[in-house]
Formats: sequence, C-alpha cells, structure tokens
Amino acid sequence: MSDKKNIVVIPMIIPKDKNLDKFGGWQWMLNSKTAWKYWCKRNGYELVIYDEPSLEDTTKYKITTQRWFDIFNFLDRKNIKYDQVAMVDASSFPKWNCPDFFKLTDNKFTVGLENDNLRWIYESVQGYKNIFNNYELDISKYFCTQFVIFNKSHKELFKKFEKFYKDNVDELVKLQTKTVKRGTDQTPFNYVMQMNNVDINYLPKPFRLSHLYRKEMLGHNWQLNEDTIPFFIKYGYVWFFSGFDKTQRDNLMRQVWELVKDRYDEDFFINNNNIIESKDVNKNATTLKFKKDIYNTFNKPHFKNMTLLELGCNHGNTTRVYAECFGKVIAVDMFEDNIKKTKSKCQDVNNVQFITADVYDNKFKLPEADVVHIDAGHTYQQVAYDIDRCIDQLDNPIFILDDYGNPKQEIKKVINDKVKQYQLKIDKFIGEKDGFVCTHGLAFNDREGVIINLK
Ligand SMILES: C[S@@+](CC[C@H](N)C(=O)[O-])C[C@H]1O[C@@H](n2cnc3c(N)ncnc32)[C@H](O)[C@@H]1O
Repeated sequence: MSDKKNIVVIPMIIPKDKNLDKFGGWQWMLNSKTAWKYWCKRNGYELVIYDEPSLEDTTKYKITTQRWFDIFNFLDRKNIKYDQVAMVDASSFPKWNCPDFFKLTDNKFTVGLENDNLRWIYESVQGYKNIFNNYELDISKYFCTQFVIFNKSHKELFKKFEKFYKDNVDELVKLQTKTVKRGTDQTPFNYVMQMNNVDINYLPKPFRLSHLYRKEMLGHNWQLNEDTIPFFIKYGYVWFFSGFDKTQRDNLMRQVWELVKDRYDEDFFINNNNIIESKDVNKNATTLKFKKDIYNTFNKPHFKNMTLLELGCNHGNTTRVYAECFGKVIAVDMFEDNIKKTKSKCQDVNNVQFITADVYDNKFKLPEADVVHIDAGHTYQQVAYDIDRCIDQLDNPIFILDDYGNPKQEIKKVINDKVKQYQLKIDKFIGEKDGFVCTHGLAFNDREGVIINLK
C-alpha cells in the first residue's frame, strides 16, 4: 500500500429539478461512485465527494468551474489530509484493476491530452483567444479537465484561475452560452495553465479514454469473434462517457455497468472460481471464509512485488488464491499427487513454482520468500521448527497459519509461544470463528487462522 495519502475527488450533485435531466437520468453518477470507491479502497486511498459549491449562482459559476476555486478550502474545511488529489468527473468508471496513476505523476500537474475532436478544440481555443489577449495557445498541449491530478503546490495557480474567471465572468458566460459554446472551464483553464508555464505531465492514453464511439472502442473484433469483451474494457484504464449526445449517457453507462459491475465486488475472484474447494469438500483445505480473508488482505498492488511460500499446498486451493495476490508463489508438498493437483488448479496462471519435497528433510533448503504460509506438519515441534527457521533464514517475513482454532492440535499453543519468544504480533485473525463446525464434524474453538507480522 502506498504510504501517501492521496485522494480521488468526484464533483457530484444530483439535481432535484427533473427538467435538468439532460443526461437521461442520474444512475450513472451512483455507479461511478461505486466503481471509484472500489478503486480507492483497493489502492489504499480515499474517495471524497465534492458537493458543496461555495457560490450559489451555479448558472454563472457552473460546478465544473467552481470546483477549481473551492477544492483546497473544501478539503481543509472537511479536515481531509492529502498529498495528491485526482479530480475526476462522475461520467467515468475506472477499470477494476486500473494501475495506480498517482505513481505516474512525478508530483506534477498531471492530465490527459485532449485531441479526440480537434475541430471542437480549435473552435474553442479560437473563441477564447481574445479574452486572453490573443495568447497563442499551443493546441498540441491541450488537456481535458475531466481528470486532473494536482497537489498543494498548485494552490496559487488555482487562485489565479479564480481571479481571472471572476474578473471576467460576464464575458466568459457569454462565450460559453451564446457565442463560442465550446465547453465551460476547460479552455480557460488550459489558457491559464499555459500562460503560467505550468510544468504539465501527461498520462498515457489508456488512463483517459473518451469519445469511445469515435474510436470504435465500444465494439470488439467481430472478424475473429473469439473474444466479445469491448476494446475499451480490454485496453483502457479509465473510461469517460463523453463525446456523444448527453441524453445517451445514462443508457450507455447503465449497459456498461451491467457488463462489469461484478468486478467491483471484493469477493469477485472467490465467488466466481469454482475450482477452489473449501473445507466442506476437502477436510485438509481451508474454509471459504479463510480464502476470502486472504484475498481481501493480500489482493493489493504492493503484494504483487512479493513472493509467498506455501509449506504444504495440498490440492492447491489456497495456492490459486495466493497466485492472484502475489507476484510469485512457491508451492511445496511432499506428495507428487498433491503437486499434480495443485498444478491443475493453477493451470491458468504462470506465477507458481512447484516443489515436491519433504520440508523436514535435511536436503530441503528454504526458498527465499516475503510471506510464508506454514501448513505442512501439524505437530508442536514441526510448526515450531518452521517458524524458527523462517525467522532465522528469511528477512522478517509475514506469517500465515491456519488451524489456530483446531482443538485437536497444538497450533494455537505453538503460535502463542513463538509470538512471545520473538516478540511478534498477531495482526489479524482470519477465517471462520469459534464454534464453526466443519462438515467432517470438527468444531473450532477459536478463529481458524492468523496473520503475524503484517507490515
Ligand atoms: C492441511 S494440508 C495443507 C492445506 C493447504 N495449505 C490449503 O490451504 O489448502 C497439509 C499438506 O501438507 C503436506 N505435508 C505434510 N507433511 C509434509 C512434509 N513433511 N513436507 C511437505 N509437505 C507435507 C500434506 O501432504 C498436505 O497436503
């Protein structure tokens, strides 16, 4: 998880006036909020809804314009702490696994280029030229205000924009509504940024895909017809539903949401994976709840750089979940048949290494790993030996242990003894609770498993 406290801000005010319903409804805003909330949680950031414009006259000062005047004060007033801010329009969905764009900014003012409809841009830039003293705007640097990432160092700039806007508001409104009719905040914002020589960083195209029609990105390759996923979903990271008749927005965003909404559920992978057995089917496996907790704890971008070692992988049911979360997984079991089954469970991924070995044999060398699931031998001595050697040979690893609440074993005792001996900490209890009865009759007397040393 990033140690930076970045935030995504969506301006979102659902008008009560039905006559303003030019987009064909407002459900798209709510779905956008759900999608962005998921993305923020997955990346360890916060979603903030900007819904208190400071100026009442939203005809003269549209929300799209006011947000630039208000945002820093708004965040201070709400006592929201932040490093970088991504201001993003609600007319968008981030793909569920969209990479972390905050890491691409170099701490600069960061945007996406706007060149989808050059005629519109040209007419807009020409239309506003006069009010900006005939400044020659470089159209090749023209960006879109649907998605802008900034930080506190841009406060003064936004103030300049506010001052210019307020000083010229009547003329600007005339340009917006009567003469030029090409956008609201975007072109004046571009002028102010360029005229102040702002160092602008541009995101790669997939992070701001718009005009999906124009680019024929709503379709798929019908000639091959082997994969019907639309191009924008396959290749884009943030999809903007603009650049077409606005009455279509609700309809189009609803259809897209129907197609992708399941992916914004934290348990999507677990629920949609019928190859993963639970304790109900295989008494050696962990429960479904254990797997969900593992998935929700470790399916975060920073674990993708780590290696997980599973001592005792059995049929590979948890292994397949680990493969989803970690960059590399090393699955070890003493029985060739178990390794065969694990290989079969993991046949759709290529980040798992399989080792057939007795982990208590002198010849077995503990592979390098950042996280270890200790689940081979289940006696006090075996688990103690596993924890000892991981502490000795690895660099401060995270431990995952199950069977903590298994009354027939001494796992809880050995875990508690070792936690004390090495001054470790149980950071999280996972899996089923005290009283849970497995299908083979075993009743847990405590939580199923623990995670130790989760940094
Ligand atoms: C409880 S199961 C592991 C369950 C698995 N981790 C999961 O989450 O589904 C224990 C596994 O450890 C393996 N095992 C037991 N002793 C072992 C040893 N000395 N070396 C390697 N594997 C061993 C067993 O063959 C068995 O498949």
